Amino acid sequence: MSGPVDVDALVAEARVAIAAADTTEDFRHVAAVVSGKKSALVEASRALGSMDPDARKELGRQLHEARATVDGLLEARRTAIRYAELSAEMAASRLDLTEYVPGEAAGPVARGHLHLVSQTRDALEDVFVGMGFEVAEGPEIESDWYNFGALNIPPAHPARGMWDTFYLHLGEPESTLLRTHTSPVQIHLMERAVLDGTLPIHSVMPGRCYRRDTPDARHLAVFHQIEGLVVDRGITFADLAGTIETFTAAYFGPDIHSRLRPAYFPFTEPSAEFEVTCTICKGEGCRTCSQTGWIELGGCGMVDPAVFASVGIDADEWTGFAFGFGIDRCAQMRHQIADMRALIENDIRFLRQF
Ligand code: DAH
Repeated sequence: MSGPVDVDALVAEARVAIAAADTTEDFRHVAAVVSGKKSALVEASRALGSMDPDARKELGRQLHEARATVDGLLEARRTAIRYAELSAEMAASRLDLTEYVPGEAAGPVARGHLHLVSQTRDALEDVFVGMGFEVAEGPEIESDWYNFGALNIPPAHPARGMWDTFYLHLGEPESTLLRTHTSPVQIHLMERAVLDGTLPIHSVMPGRCYRRDTPDARHLAVFHQIEGLVVDRGITFADLAGTIETFTAAYFGPDIHSRLRPAYFPFTEPSAEFEVTCTICKGEGCRTCSQTGWIELGGCGMVDPAVFASVGIDADEWTGFAFGFGIDRCAQMRHQIADMRALIENDIRFLRQF
């Protein structure tokens, strides 16, 4: 039913106009035409005032409904247009990765390589494997017993000062700590060999160690060592000295030799520090070696019978030697790196050289 205005026709026209709008700009224009102040709908409402009450009521109702319909159509259209425009924008800004040809713009893709410390560890392992050693590893978190006690360093022993460290847990039943050297791996190996009945042992044990040292040109708080352990029948100090010398020449080259000087370690008796020819001056004497011609690399000695006792090895039947030295220190000496901290600064210009 229609009054003086054909409301149905108005709505039908509005519907067509709204459907035809497909940009935000069109939409604004159409919205003004179909529902703005000058739209036919609003004009029609103005006519209400001059109508008789019954007809006014009927037309008012129709116009109210028409208004709701048109508003609904407008809102739906607005949403659809915004969605379409956003999708178009996203499609336009999408990167087509399939178009990227590696290396075309940037040149050949640079490949990384192992860090100098890893290379050094590999090279040291190679030398020792070539001499008949096996490679073993142990945990970086140790108990007090493995890091100290079993190595003949009882609580309150003054030697603990040398290796005071980062404790993870201090107290009963046992403290745990970040190992200060790779020597505790000796204990693990000997315990296992006793359990499995697989003595003798000829092993090297590389790994990371921790000390509460302030880093300087020759020390890092997190560093690497390689430990050596031989347990066999009839092993003597001469075997130790020969092994150290063979290793030194194989790793540093035929001009570099080793020498042993008396020292003290709780887990070896007798003990020695081993030094190698200064790689900077080749033994002439320079600042780096304090004019001695020698540089200290590590410690070594014959396994102390107290250590054998702590793992249940019969020291009358078996003897052995052990040694331990810094992997980072080897890298430093072989490549003449003035400051060891360069190894952990991650400056790619430094690392690339090796
Ligand atoms: N663990 C010692 C250190 O870190 C080095 C060492 C000395 C290892 C003598 C040994 C050894 O195996 O026999 O200072």
